[in-house]
Amino acid sequence: MRVELLATPDCPHAARTEATLRAILEEEGGEQHVSRMLLRDLDAAASAGFVGSPTVRVNGRDVMPAVGLRSGLACRLYRQPDGSFSGAVPPEAIRQAVQRAREREEAERAAPGPLDTMRDVPAQVMRTGFLWASRQEGLERFATSTGVTRGLVERFVAGNDLEGALAALERLRDAGLRTTVDVLGESVDSEKRATVAADRYVELLGELHARRLDGNVSLKLTQMGLEVDPAFCLRNVRRVIEKAAESGSFVRVDMEDHSKTDVTLRIARQLHGEYPETGVVIQSYLRRSADDVAALIRDGIRVRLCKGAYDEPPTVAFASKAEVDESYRVIMERLLLEGTYPAIATHDERLIGHAREFVEREGIPPDRYEFQMLYGVRRDLQQALVEEGAAVRVYVPFGHEWYPYFMRRLAERPANVLFLLRNLLRERRGSVTPT
Ligand code: FDA
Repeated sequence: MRVELLATPDCPHAARTEATLRAILEEEGGEQHVSRMLLRDLDAAASAGFVGSPTVRVNGRDVMPAVGLRSGLACRLYRQPDGSFSGAVPPEAIRQAVQRAREREEAERAAPGPLDTMRDVPAQVMRTGFLWASRQEGLERFATSTGVTRGLVERFVAGNDLEGALAALERLRDAGLRTTVDVLGESVDSEKRATVAADRYVELLGELHARRLDGNVSLKLTQMGLEVDPAFCLRNVRRVIEKAAESGSFVRVDMEDHSKTDVTLRIARQLHGEYPETGVVIQSYLRRSADDVAALIRDGIRVRLCKGAYDEPPTVAFASKAEVDESYRVIMERLLLEGTYPAIATHDERLIGHAREFVEREGIPPDRYEFQMLYGVRRDLQQALVEEGAAVRVYVPFGHEWYPYFMRRLAERPANVLFLLRNLLRERRGSVTPT
């Protein structure tokens, strides 16, 4: 892929656009070379077909084609997703151009056979397939014993051990981002494994405090033994909460599939009664969520709002993206108006843009809410929001038990799957060594 940044020597937006461009190329995987072209005079501008600074081209095509502009050395103004204008090229336009080019490359390179078939499978079917695979232990054994997924896993998971995670946390803190840490693991089938998981959180909270890192963790109840014995699970989480209380840390109970919603809300409510720095998660895809949020607002419990990452039947969850997004918008507005420090957890630029307009219109100050995103996803957007003064928290998972988490990330975006398939095909041809 040929990626070019064209700019005049004094362009104030060139450096920021280049940083965004590099972050997107890194996130999308593959080659990351950016050619820079400085346009110093009108002749050079005319021969390059340059219509203003900065301009980004992918494979020779302007990522935001300029209609009716003549060549020259002027600054360019770009319409941003929130409707405002600025001199920086909108990250989403760059991303879409890179993704389109990458997908064209994939199409040309791929061997005939499985990839062709996969490309025709609608995204929804692919999502269901990956979510099904996320629950298959045989596939988990295969995936974790080969090296094919390693590159992509590293993008979403901050290392196998605590040391790796702590280094990532320090990097994020230095970039102005807040964090919440998840020790990967879920659906444990014995009290022994659940006890080990709680021990890891206790150790983590000690380290976060000792290193003066953000004391904020996220955990799953099935990792704490919910499916073994709910009473044991509650005792186990309480150990984590007690450790968190020593340093005033915050504990968020993640939300799992809909069969756990009632019990998760019940346990979170009970824990919040004992330790107010406990919060929970609501998924906008569930039809019940508007009612659940109303109750959580009444109880003053902090809510993280996300869309939902599991495969749910249409009886309990909205099936179309439009309905899930609309439910998100409605619940988000309510939380912003009435909730206790809500977390707007999404990478959806449209919803984030809407949140920004809404808080502006309603006069909601920036210290009353925060945005949250996943480690390795939309780093450009995370950074752009921080630069604009918003509070952004990154969800940082680490540990060996990455398989179900990773498969949910694949299910969220077909381009991730194509990337993985390319690695699998390479392995079949012998260029990736299984470990
Ligand atoms: P959507 O899926 O519409 O994506 C919008 C855009 O974001 C995409 O176009 C793409 O650019 C980018 N994007 C999204 N996912 C990506 C990926 N995997 N790789 C690359 N780009 C991607 N779920 C749950 O059920 N229980 C929980 O407790 C949590 N907790 C949680 C915490 C935090 C901090 C976040 C951000 C998310 C969760 N989730 C979750 C996951 C959530 O439900 C949802 O599956 C993902 O956030 C993806 O949905 P988006 O809101 O980003 O929108």
